[in-house]
Amino acid sequence: MKRVDETVTIQENKRINGKYYKLVFKSARLARGVQAGQFLHVQIRPDAVDPFLRRPFSYYRIQHDRIEVLYEVLGRGTELLAGLGKGSHLKIMGPLGKAFTQQVRGKKRILVAGGVGVPPLVFLAEKNPVDYLLIGTKSRAEVLPKKELSKVRAEILHATNDGSYGVRGFVTALLEKIIQKEGAECLHIQTCGPAPMMNAVMDIAKREGIPGEASMEESMACGVGACLGCMVKTPEGWVPSCIEGPVFSFDRLVRTCA
Ligand SMILES: Cc1cc2nc3c(=O)[nH]c(=O)nc-3n(C[C@H](O)[C@H](O)[C@H](O)COP(=O)(O)OP(=O)(O)OC[C@H]3O[C@@H](n4cnc5c(N)ncnc54)[C@H](O)[C@@H]3O)c2cc1C
Ligand code: FES
Repeated sequence: MKRVDETVTIQENKRINGKYYKLVFKSARLARGVQAGQFLHVQIRPDAVDPFLRRPFSYYRIQHDRIEVLYEVLGRGTELLAGLGKGSHLKIMGPLGKAFTQQVRGKKRILVAGGVGVPPLVFLAEKNPVDYLLIGTKSRAEVLPKKELSKVRAEILHATNDGSYGVRGFVTALLEKIIQKEGAECLHIQTCGPAPMMNAVMDIAKREGIPGEASMEESMACGVGACLGCMVKTPEGWVPSCIEGPVFSFDRLVRTCA
């Protein structure tokens, strides 16, 4: 799959709920052969020096040459992005990184998503047979509108910190229930979200002997293995997440802090 760097024109860029904005643009080359888990590296103001570094975002949905990205406003870059209207330009490099395993045979498949990890896992669940999609958010205001999840054929379960939608508490409580119901030996987990959530998911997987994959959303400067700013510790040593990941199997990830 060839990496390209292209200037695109924004077709749509609007807020869809209390958490996410949806960005839409067209590019046949950036859409070609992409699999869920891969990402785009976005220069938000192509004609300006600031912000200098690109920002990475997962592919959320692709229909022919139409690409959708779902993003949360966290800092200066995403704030500037949210201010761009239809017709504005972005310079985008992609597709980058390694995707999630698309076909998992002989296991029930659970996706565990939170925060900026929701988009790639919705993409995965739309394109592949999946048994459960578990989504954790702070409150109902952050839950994706139903139509955004209408193409997912999995059983979708929500957990909110304040109990305003789905079960009250962390998404890992839903995971524990499914393990009890299905039995650990027949399960496979794929997860993406805030580090504490993924660490909790991986702790449960390790305890139960469940295989799986996690997408490590490290900050990325270059996105192509040149700056070594996104290193992740594996049993073979430190590797750049933008090239070797962002998706890693659980047994390739060595925890570096509590
Ligand atoms: C492979 C990959 C895929 C991603 N996919 C998406 C996506 O689909 N949608 C989306 O909204 N975001 C995604 N992110 C995160 C996104 O890149 C950051 O939120 C963004 O770069 C923040 O830029 P900023 O200038 O707004 O914030 P900054 O000013 O750079 O940071 C503001 C705050 O955001 C935090 N932050 C910065 N980078 C990250 C990160 N990688 N993960 C979590 N917190 C971060 C900082 O610690 C700080 O607290 C992805 C990141 C990676 C590495
Ligand atoms: S972001 Fe530069 S090496 Fe990964």
